[in-house]
Amino acid sequence: MFSADTYTNRRNQLKKDVEKGLILILGNNDVGMNYAGNTFRYRQDSNFLYFFGIDQAGLAAVIDLEDGSETIFGDELTIDDVIWVGTHTSISEMAEKVGVKQVKPAADLEKVVKAAKQSGKPVHYLPPYRDDNKIKLHQWLGIAFEDLKSQASESFIKAVVKQRSHKSAEEIQQMEVAVNVSGSMHIAAMIGAAEGKTEAQLTGIVQGIAVGAGGDLAYPIILSKDGQTLHNHYHGNVLKEGQLVLGDFGAETPMRYAGDLTRTFPVSKTFTAKQKEIYQIVLDAEMQCIEGLKPGIPYREFHLKAARIITEGLKGLGLMKGDTDEAVAAGAHALFFPHGLGHMIGLDVHDMEDLGENYVGYSDSIKRSEQFGTAFLRLGRELEAGFVLTVEPGIYFIPELIDLWKSENKFENFINYSALDSYRDFGGVRIEDNVLITENGHKVLGNPVPKSIEDVEKVRSYQG
Ligand code: GLY
Ligand code: MN
Repeated sequence: MFSADTYTNRRNQLKKDVEKGLILILGNNDVGMNYAGNTFRYRQDSNFLYFFGIDQAGLAAVIDLEDGSETIFGDELTIDDVIWVGTHTSISEMAEKVGVKQVKPAADLEKVVKAAKQSGKPVHYLPPYRDDNKIKLHQWLGIAFEDLKSQASESFIKAVVKQRSHKSAEEIQQMEVAVNVSGSMHIAAMIGAAEGKTEAQLTGIVQGIAVGAGGDLAYPIILSKDGQTLHNHYHGNVLKEGQLVLGDFGAETPMRYAGDLTRTFPVSKTFTAKQKEIYQIVLDAEMQCIEGLKPGIPYREFHLKAARIITEGLKGLGLMKGDTDEAVAAGAHALFFPHGLGHMIGLDVHDMEDLGENYVGYSDSIKRSEQFGTAFLRLGRELEAGFVLTVEPGIYFIPELIDLWKSENKFENFINYSALDSYRDFGGVRIEDNVLITENGHKVLGNPVPKSIEDVEKVRSYQG
């Protein structure tokens, strides 16, 4: 937890940015996995954490913009709770630690919200993503389920995005920790890989490091020989010499700040010549994009820069052809690079995605592209000091997409389909780091995690 001042200052800023009515932040509750008492791993809502800091189920908070009062709603432990799950600091004590003086029973919240609605006071809430919270909003505010998202408060959303987009020094410290734990996870995977091991065995090692550091995973582990599937959560394959492993995983700290790194390495001790060629193009794209990061430039320009580097590189291998700028403008590169260059990261791995990607990643002057590939770019807006973002270009050979585009003769003036036959089982390469935008440039967070071909091969040949 940060100091009470940190949370108080954040709420004071919110009070200035949202005009009148009640601000309502619903924390997250425990959710049953296969029955009510056997729950999924608990994760507090990131907005609740940001403004109220208490990492505990069953809480909600209200800020009354008329009298400035702040109240946390939640029930103190009963003797039964203490017997079964043990005791912990009372909600009142925790509220004090985050600068909140008033705590009321959970049941009082419904009355407060309904009274506000009846008296015509606006109730500002954020787009809900958990069904239990949707049910509460629906019952208390009388808003149809399908309208809950569109009726969320725009001024509240914008006020939250404004604050959370700029990371403070103490947040950056947390993120350095998250990235360093994430880096240890990647090095362990690289060292641990071997012919005959399963993806699941490596996944277990990696998850253990995140949990062992006191936090947990920031998102489900992607670790697969089939790196061409962007978010591959299947870990059932046995690794074989000659394959590539793509690992995209990261830890969140005990305070819930996320790391999000990707590395790709060979199951053999060395890359094949063909793997090296593709890997080096992705590495060039990643490093050259990072090199130019600074405030004032739209992140979409870096996405397009990566697309050009990838197109040039693939032209050099005879897989693409034609004019690079024209190919990228048409979107031909997206056969190989069908996702965005990166996203904001913070308390969420895709930071504030619950609030709406266009609020977080776009602006009045920079709107989301509708073109396949670039449309998936989560962050397009002009960079500002204090942003923390990921840079994660990739090249993938997705047989189903290749077959589809080939059958449509799509971009045949830019793609050499016949040359792709020998890449159908290549998989994919992605390389990802987390970068802070500073006043004059940028800083890559965390200790370096091997990524040059030479350094990755060095780790792969390590005999523990
Ligand atoms: N780490 C997965 C992603 O950025 O989508
Ligand atoms: Mn990412």
